[in-house]
Amino acid sequence: MQDQVKTIREQALAACRQAETVQELNEARVKFLGKKGELTLILRKTGQLPKEERPQFGKLVNEVRDELELVWDQREEELSRAEEERRLLAESLDTTLPGRTVARGTVHPVSRIIAETKRIFMQMGYQVVEGPEVEWDYYNFEALNIPPDHPARDMQDTFFITEKLLLRSQTSPVQIHTMERQQPPIRIVAPGKVYRADSDVTHSPMFHQIEGLVVDEGITLADLKGTLQLFVQRMFGPDVKIRLRPSYFPFTEPSAEVDVSCIICSGTGCRVCKDTGWLEILGSGMVHPQVLKQVGYDPGKVSGFAFGMGIERIAMLKYGINDIRLLFENDVRFLEQFTS
Ligand code: PHE
Repeated sequence: MQDQVKTIREQALAACRQAETVQELNEARVKFLGKKGELTLILRKTGQLPKEERPQFGKLVNEVRDELELVWDQREEELSRAEEERRLLAESLDTTLPGRTVARGTVHPVSRIIAETKRIFMQMGYQVVEGPEVEWDYYNFEALNIPPDHPARDMQDTFFITEKLLLRSQTSPVQIHTMERQQPPIRIVAPGKVYRADSDVTHSPMFHQIEGLVVDEGITLADLKGTLQLFVQRMFGPDVKIRLRPSYFPFTEPSAEVDVSCIICSGTGCRVCKDTGWLEILGSGMVHPQVLKQVGYDPGKVSGFAFGMGIERIAMLKYGINDIRLLFENDVRFLEQFTS
């Protein structure tokens, strides 16, 4: 039986050497060292030996088992390392492939125009302020010299919350908040959302305006014109001109609509400017004495100008967008065109 154990040992060692994969090696381990393996089976036959030989035999089998386990473990490590190496070589990595780009957001055209406008006016020494979107009738209308029967108060234009509370229909109430808070000199721009019950290709029930207000001693219409001329040149380009057309707002006197020379055709006439060569971009005027009085200023001492422009309109002109709804649908195919 001792000889049999030796034979098993030799066969096992040979099988171990011959195994070329971890799997083959495991199969051989089961065959020789497993529960029903050859070494286990022969150990069960110990009883057939004379009593005095049994301990000796058991010891031999256990030694052989220990040796084989050790050899097997070493071989297994060798083989699995070789297999891993082969696998890595086969799976070679192409480091010249371009990486997957991370999708980056872009700044919305409305936000761009707001940022750009703020920057232009801050460079001229203006402060940026904000006011509430839910507003009192007093600030949106009354203090701005809009009498109770003025068409701008019509329920069709303004979203009323209660009789006295509404969603502001313009950023002009920020003029009043600012003048109530501080004394002249005042130089502010106030960007924000406004609301009107209106909706088509050029109107949205929510849109953005930027209000401007300057109050100081000796402010004239020339200051208004010069300021806006500089603004449009910085916003649209050095060759763009402005013109003031007489208009009417209850809170300015005189009032003017401001047009820019068409930024598409430079004034020669095209579809966008309807062959007039001009595009209307904002409303403006000299602050009405009644408004100055309302906030406790002395119209005999100080004067001012104000203007209000629609951001979406500026964005549509600057980027050639023909439907205002594109600005609110947030289709990435549209938005991702505004990079750089
Ligand atoms: N608030 C006016 C509008 O929404 C624009 C405006 C602002 C006109 C300031 C004059 C002065 O139409």
